[in-house]
Amino acid sequence: MFKKVPGTRDILPEEISYWQKIETTARKVFSLYNYKEIRTPVIEEAALFSRSLGEFAEIVKKQMFLIKNKEDSYVLRPEGTASIVRAYLESNLDKIRRFSKFYYIGPMFRLERPQKGRQRQFHHIGAEALGSSSAGVDVEMIMIADALLKAYGVAGYSLKINTLGCAKDKKSLVGLLRKELKGKLTGLCQECKERFKHNIIRILDCKKDGCRKIVGSLSIQDKYLCGDCKEHFQQVTRGLDAGEVSYEVSRQLVRGLDYYTRTVFEFKHEGLGAQDALGAGGRYDNLVKDLGGPQIGAVGFAFGVERLLLVGDLKKNELRNSLVFLISLGDRAREKGLKLLDRLRSCGIAADTDYENRSLKAAMRLANDLQSKLVLILGDNELEKNIVILKDMGNGQQEEIATREVVNKIKERLI
Ligand code: HAM
Repeated sequence: MFKKVPGTRDILPEEISYWQKIETTARKVFSLYNYKEIRTPVIEEAALFSRSLGEFAEIVKKQMFLIKNKEDSYVLRPEGTASIVRAYLESNLDKIRRFSKFYYIGPMFRLERPQKGRQRQFHHIGAEALGSSSAGVDVEMIMIADALLKAYGVAGYSLKINTLGCAKDKKSLVGLLRKELKGKLTGLCQECKERFKHNIIRILDCKKDGCRKIVGSLSIQDKYLCGDCKEHFQQVTRGLDAGEVSYEVSRQLVRGLDYYTRTVFEFKHEGLGAQDALGAGGRYDNLVKDLGGPQIGAVGFAFGVERLLLVGDLKKNELRNSLVFLISLGDRAREKGLKLLDRLRSCGIAADTDYENRSLKAAMRLANDLQSKLVLILGDNELEKNIVILKDMGNGQQEEIATREVVNKIKERLI
């Protein structure tokens, strides 16, 4: 028998309602902020990501799913930001409406060692706003992410933010780190010794105890930041304060992708264990230019859907779909019942029934398994009286309703 590829998952029908709920809620929240959906291909040129994320980024060095043939080198996209900038430029959107707000939902691929919350195919829900350097857009982006977490019923998350400064500031940061870390190399882990050569900024967020101790002893603070970048960051924190979003400034938050400049942020949740990032993002003011476009600012974020599902309240919430399940008891009721089903469906109500003549108890169990929201019970008694019994599976209450009233009553309940 064939098995799925390690690090991938089948999303089976019993789970799909959570995914649909996550996606519908995201679409609603994004549209409130006037973000428009964009869908880009899952395969892209490999060079798009090495150029955007940086040759020495972990994703590019170790995690790309390469598809090679004689002439081309493609990859399964490891993230959405670079693809969206490519699409924005390729379709000349920068010339039509320079400031554009996009959102996206879709699978991403990284060749990682699978573990809890870390897969080879996972899904992003993300947003990118291209064409503005204003701190107000950073604030909006973080507020959307926060609104999404609240809409999903995620509790107990925290938000860390930092600023990396502009490209010049990042160079100063590299210089300062080189100077301060030079004499402390022996205390760093093997990976950070490597990072010292090509990716020194990442030493700041190494999780190993020895490296954390050394990083804690550095005296860099915000010395690498220019006046403009300091001001930009102050505007961001002031905006978050005004929007009543809780956050913590962490100078160790640096992110693993080269394209970031200025604001970076990460939402964490302890319940996730080792892979504790629910989502992350930041500003990337030079990426559009690096990919051949004009010098315009941009900012975005992405959540991992699988991780949202691990900590969201969607499962606990007994999320029932809007299915109405009809239980007909006896031959005459079954005949009438088929007509009633037809009526419901033609009025746009999703309806199902038991075709196996189950007992009332067994049919109720089936209705429950199918996560029906409402159950209709029709037997000889009810036929006599021209009524049906309507049971709400959420609160267990039931009532008798006149047959001609069925559609209206159900519609009221499904709102
Ligand atoms: P990222 O931090 O690489 O950022 O990914 C964002 C989120 O995707 C992570 O916080 C995590 O929840 C989820 N994620 C990442 N890798 C995996 C995996 N292997 N399995 C399951 N979930 C995973 C980005 O990709 C940036 N493009 C975000 C961004 C958008 N920055 C600006 N705009």
